[in-house]
Amino acid sequence: PQAAARLVNALADAYLAQNVQRRAAEADKSLQFLEAQLPELRQQLETAEVALNEFRNRHQTIDIPGEITALLSQTVELEKHRLELDLRRRDAQARYEPAHPIASALRDQIASVSAQQKRIGDRIRALPKLQQDYLRLARDVEVSSQLYVSLLNNAQQLRVARAGTIANVSIVDRAVVTEKAAKPRRALVVAVGVLGGAAAGFLLTQLLAAMRGRVRDPGELEAALGIHVSATVPESAEQATIDKRKLKEPFLLAQQRPTVGAVEALRTLRLNLQLALADTERGRTILLTSAIPGQGKSFVSANLAFLIASAGPRVLLIDADIRRSSIERYLPVHGERGISDILRERLDPAPFVRADVAPNLSVLPAGDGVDNPGDLLTEERLRGLFAWANEHYDVIVVDAPPILPVSDAVVLGRFADVTAFVVRHKKAAQADVVDAVHQFRLTGAPVTGFVFNGFVPSRVRHGYGGRYGYYRAGYGYGNERRA
Ligand SMILES: Nc1ncnc2c1ncn2[C@@H]1O[C@H](COP(=O)(O)OP(=O)(O)OP(=O)(O)O)[C@@H](O)[C@H]1O
Ligand SMILES: [Mg+2]
Repeated sequence: PQAAARLVNALADAYLAQNVQRRAAEADKSLQFLEAQLPELRQQLETAEVALNEFRNRHQTIDIPGEITALLSQTVELEKHRLELDLRRRDAQARYEPAHPIASALRDQIASVSAQQKRIGDRIRALPKLQQDYLRLARDVEVSSQLYVSLLNNAQQLRVARAGTIANVSIVDRAVVTEKAAKPRRALVVAVGVLGGAAAGFLLTQLLAAMRGRVRDPGELEAALGIHVSATVPESAEQATIDKRKLKEPFLLAQQRPTVGAVEALRTLRLNLQLALADTERGRTILLTSAIPGQGKSFVSANLAFLIASAGPRVLLIDADIRRSSIERYLPVHGERGISDILRERLDPAPFVRADVAPNLSVLPAGDGVDNPGDLLTEERLRGLFAWANEHYDVIVVDAPPILPVSDAVVLGRFADVTAFVVRHKKAAQADVVDAVHQFRLTGAPVTGFVFNGFVPSRVRHGYGGRYGYYRAGYGYGNERRA
């Protein structure tokens, strides 16, 4: 009997260990890759900074016109985008066959970015030699520091994910060897049955209550729905401060504070959604929705649209939340007519678009409030609008209404190529998100990923705030705290 108990226990332990290991292995692989890149990138950054400083010392009085600054930010964006894609490609090489759709999508994207770089390169070569040199050096510094910070961010996310990896099986009871031979004892069986039943009932109600709980860690949602987190966007202190002041003028974080953590995370989101788009056939329309209001759809849509546009493609941001539009908090559009008018009166969308609210970014406002958005948001009325948008823009970002209060939003799913569900840390009930995703999937539209928004790391649980802050301060990216 001892041997039998040992055997059973050993089997159970081995199973548990293997289960944890398998779950952690995936995160480990990516993390190892990133950690191997980090020292190299840091070296690159230091070298680039030294070179730029030397150049500045040598040419104290170089003239830097505004055109150069604009070119600089464009080349930085493109170069960074290309490097990010290149890293992803090297990571993908280790995991997939060359013919895998992800690998080929990455190659296509790299080719298109290189083509854009070539066009800008031609403009730069037309400049005086000294300005060209300055531009090249300044670009190297910008690109390596941004890339370094964003990789640090990714590595942190993976470390958190790995540390949180626990088995999804557990050992209920270990095998023990009894002293006496077994024989049925009726009273005991009845007592255990009654108490056990009561305990099980109690546990079940607790479990249900916990499921109604707020989302603190998207891992359970990922497991329950088979959808992954496309990006974790930290809570932004700057955005919160601005929100408190209730300003009349719009404020766009990605434009005003391009280097803070939340914007870095939105760049990760941009990359992941663009890769997902590249995998689809039409590949143009990104839909953002959420289970309930207030999760950050408008915040994410506006900033994401801006970031995509700043890398080159022509972007149309559609404010499809006609009940409670709030795009004007982020971008300069107010009280204009828009999508509700277009749908109601079946009008041509072109005159309603606010062109170039930022470089390459146009906005289609929500328009006048209406009493019956459900009647307007019909597949038949929307078809013309999306056909028109697909014809005139490279990327369409849709700020959709939340799903649960009014399910008319799900019809928008028919026109989306990729859909991201915004889930706000501690502000969404897990059960609501599960419900909403199920409703959304009924239309046949898949959900591509979660945006885990407003994440506030708890120092007690993760304890890495300090270290992260140290790196950021050390490399001149302390804006988050200075502001
Ligand atoms: N990561 C973040 N950091 C700080 N503030 C944020 C963040 N995300 C969103 N917010 C703020 O939270 C509030 C709600 O966000 P937002 O309006 O984008 O949500 P929404 O999902 O569009 O809501 P609604 O359904 O009402 O349209 C806004 O004041 C926004 O600025
Ligand atoms: Mg909104």
